[in-house]
Amino acid sequence: MSATSATTPEIKLQVQSLAKLYGQTIALDHVDLEVRKGELLTLLGPSGSGKTTLLQLICGLQEPSSGTVVIDGKDQTHAPVNKRDIGVVFQNYALFPHMTVVENVGFALKMRGLPKVEIDTKVAKALETVGLTHAAGRAPSQLSGGQQQRVALARCLVYDPAIILMDEPLGALDAKLREVMQIEIKRIHRETGATIIFVTHDQQEALALSDRICLMNNGKIAQLGTPRQMYEEPQNLFVADFIGVSSIIRGTVKDGALQTTLGLLPISGARPSNGTNGAIVVRPEAISLGEGFCEGRVRETVYGGSDMRVIIDAGEQEIIARATAATGDIEVGKTVRFGWAPDAVRFLIDKD
Ligand SMILES: Nc1ncnc2c1ncn2[C@@H]1O[C@H](COP(=O)(O)OP(=O)(O)OP(=O)(O)O)[C@@H](O)[C@H]1O
Ligand SMILES: [Mg+2]
Repeated sequence: MSATSATTPEIKLQVQSLAKLYGQTIALDHVDLEVRKGELLTLLGPSGSGKTTLLQLICGLQEPSSGTVVIDGKDQTHAPVNKRDIGVVFQNYALFPHMTVVENVGFALKMRGLPKVEIDTKVAKALETVGLTHAAGRAPSQLSGGQQQRVALARCLVYDPAIILMDEPLGALDAKLREVMQIEIKRIHRETGATIIFVTHDQQEALALSDRICLMNNGKIAQLGTPRQMYEEPQNLFVADFIGVSSIIRGTVKDGALQTTLGLLPISGARPSNGTNGAIVVRPEAISLGEGFCEGRVRETVYGGSDMRVIIDAGEQEIIARATAATGDIEVGKTVRFGWAPDAVRFLIDKD
């Protein structure tokens, strides 16, 4: 082991300038990405942003137009699917209906000609990991959606692939079950140390699950970072808008402040030149209600248990704030003052 290996994470997968064209459509636009050994990375992004395309190029279901895919230091760009040591879990888990849970999970190992004793041991361990030992003899039709999803996961875990790819695996489940499975996936990830690339278009799910999030937009990476970095330090307005809730107040820079429909708002940190178009991004928790330098009319309140979301119309600007038990009465239709500390918000330049 070299002296630097303690601080430099081992790279499991490298994607270099990977591109995919479908006719005139640029599905993936020269993406560079490194996935570390043992990390859970989510590919997040709106519909059509290239998430599935990237997964398909990584596992070999599609050929790239250009670029390379390196797994464990080996160029696998043109290697067939079954030679890449990658496990895939899709949204429709496609279990074999005529086989029991045990048979479903052991199928790939049987195809590889492993001895029965070894198959039995591995299948038992995989079923234990996903908490389905008690359902081993059932048919898929005798399982709930969440249980079927666990079988699909066990089927993948059983042969201990170098990388596990999951394309919206929880998309078919109801909200409660999704949450349960998110926690399960986190636990399984921790216990197995597997390298997982998880696709979702649900930012809440990405924030909850990921070591790092790769946010995609139009076939490109908009930003790559930890959930905290994505939320607290968005690098552009697309990221600020996509991750979490925020009020985006657009305007033009004038003498170190931003001229907006709410008036001249202070910009902390950078001093962009006059005429620059940009926006101040304000998270709900940064807004103080009841006093401040702005005023608006409460359009809607949305009860959320521990807190309440307050939607305010300040002229044409929509502001989303958060009221807690400590905030005074907030009534729809009433006028309310609000504000924020300049260093609690971000200024981002508008690149569009
Ligand atoms: N087989 C295909 N033939 C033609 N165009 C395709 C094909 N697969 C994907 N595309 C196009 O490539 C772009 C990226 O698609 P992709 O399926 O990767 O998006 P995605 O991020 O997975 O979206 P979703 O969240 O809807 O699953 C889209 O514009 C899509 O229409
Ligand atoms: Mg997709």
